[in-house]
Amino acid sequence: MWSFHKWFERHSLILIIGILVVVSIGGLVQITPLFFIESTIERVQGVRPYTPLELAGRRIYIREGCYVCHSQMIRPLRDEVERYGHYSLAAESMYDHPFQWGSKRSGPDLARVGGRYSDEWHRAHLIDPRSVVPESVMPPYAFLTQTEIDFEQMGDHLRVNRMLRVPYTDEQVANAAADARAQAEPMGNYAMDFEARYPGVAVRDFDGDPARVTEMDALIAYLQMLGTGVDFETYQADTPGNRR
Ligand code: HEC
Repeated sequence: MWSFHKWFERHSLILIIGILVVVSIGGLVQITPLFFIESTIERVQGVRPYTPLELAGRRIYIREGCYVCHSQMIRPLRDEVERYGHYSLAAESMYDHPFQWGSKRSGPDLARVGGRYSDEWHRAHLIDPRSVVPESVMPPYAFLTQTEIDFEQMGDHLRVNRMLRVPYTDEQVANAAADARAQAEPMGNYAMDFEARYPGVAVRDFDGDPARVTEMDALIAYLQMLGTGVDFETYQADTPGNRR
């Protein structure tokens, strides 16, 4: 009945092609549904899209290669959870394009670094890491305080994210540049509009230089929100009440 099988057993090339065909069928059956099932990424309350300023900070994080030394993914292992906090949920990177899980930790994981240090600490640390952590091998990024962020393209960046299914409204896209400035200027004219568009988001001068909105503002705004969305005091996996 299986006489044709001798072909596979006698010719390694046919065997390899046969294996590839079988493995691809298995792969398709397992992987394809994940792209269509809504529950692949379970929605969790508190996870929100980035503000324009945070998004700019995120681009600086990628541009400067912070991911080369830092991961943003806490694995569900006891030592990691005790050190960094609750393990990362899939929903926490649902608005990340591309995600920043990383694969190397020369420095600590940053998935929950938000709120752990003050803005001043981050500023001092990014300007000169060894001023606050003498044994640090992290490079300095003092130049970020000198460069103003590029407001021109804010709208385009939100638009691209919207194409990737991040739910920005037309109003948020149209006001992206004003909102990026407003988040770092608590006394500015647009702070109220910003708070209406992004309720509950921190508005403050992140880099301690009220005259300008710099790349340092953007990067600190981004770092300070990492991992702060979900309230793990009340979060319980598998309880429908936690889902939106
Ligand atoms: C060459 C590797 C390297 C690169 C690149 C790097 N870091 Fe670090 N980072 C470290 C190391 C090592 C530490 C731990 C010592 C310290 O706190 O400085 C650290 C610590 C940190 C901390 C404190 C984390 C904590 O929980 O204590 C933050 C925040 C941070 N880095 C942000 C950044 C950002 C943002 C960038 C990119 C602009 C960056 N790092 C680039 C190596 C790196």
